[in-house]
Amino acid sequence: MGIDFKTKKDNCPLASFYRVEVRDEIDSTNTAVFDAGNKGEAEGFCMIAKRQTAGRGRRGRNFFSPENTGLYLSVLLRPSLDAEKALLITTAAAVAGAKACERICGKNVEIKWVNDLFLDGRKIAGILTEGSIKPGTSKLEFAVMGIGINVIPPKGGWPEEISSVAGALCDSEESYKDVLDRLSTEFLNEFYDLYSKLPNTDYIEEYRKRQLATGKRINVLSGDGSFRKAEALGVDDCFRLRVKFDGEEKESAIDTGEISIRIED
Ligand code: BTN
Repeated sequence: MGIDFKTKKDNCPLASFYRVEVRDEIDSTNTAVFDAGNKGEAEGFCMIAKRQTAGRGRRGRNFFSPENTGLYLSVLLRPSLDAEKALLITTAAAVAGAKACERICGKNVEIKWVNDLFLDGRKIAGILTEGSIKPGTSKLEFAVMGIGINVIPPKGGWPEEISSVAGALCDSEESYKDVLDRLSTEFLNEFYDLYSKLPNTDYIEEYRKRQLATGKRINVLSGDGSFRKAEALGVDDCFRLRVKFDGEEKESAIDTGEISIRIED
């Protein structure tokens, strides 16, 4: 596969920022890039795999990553950011991913707070940002931003546990090879554009206008599997989700955890 960094702005130093390594198979691109970060590798190291044997999602979940089906990509970052601002990396990647996918499929791609991309009501991508903190500080030593995009549906179908929610960007096998290069290039270009300006968050309107949760009834999930019902009101200036929990008068803002959209009310 080939990545063409000359597609956007002439003065964008993308080709010198990213060093892309493509693997046929790896356990997890996030794990490999995190190891590289620990060994002192410079910012911009990017690994793309055609298959992951142990792809990881948020909350310790597995990310289904079969061969010739998706884009599995991780980038090593060394931002000058407090660890508590790591959410900005995830949200910048969500906007970059949504825009890249929209250019390929020509449809609107939605973002489900905080890190999932949806097309036609199905999850087509997820983002996992992991970080290491500088000892004795609150600053990030490095971060790894990983994105997995389902480019086409897997030949054998989705595993049962995700079959009701998982979807893909395109539907045919022929599109896979064509799409992969374009999608990676578009995504890396867009992501650099936003990441290089952080902590500037001018992209927040792009995030808000694609927000799937706003105005919907949701479940706010806790780590122990329990949930609270709420109404999602919107995304605040710090990318927290503003919610009104059932039975409460005042608004709350959540910055961690996960939501699901309720369909029964
Ligand atoms: C989620 O949906 O919870 C996040 C999924 C993130 C998956 C990507 S695929 C590339 C990178 N490597 C991993 O092991 N995970 C991320």
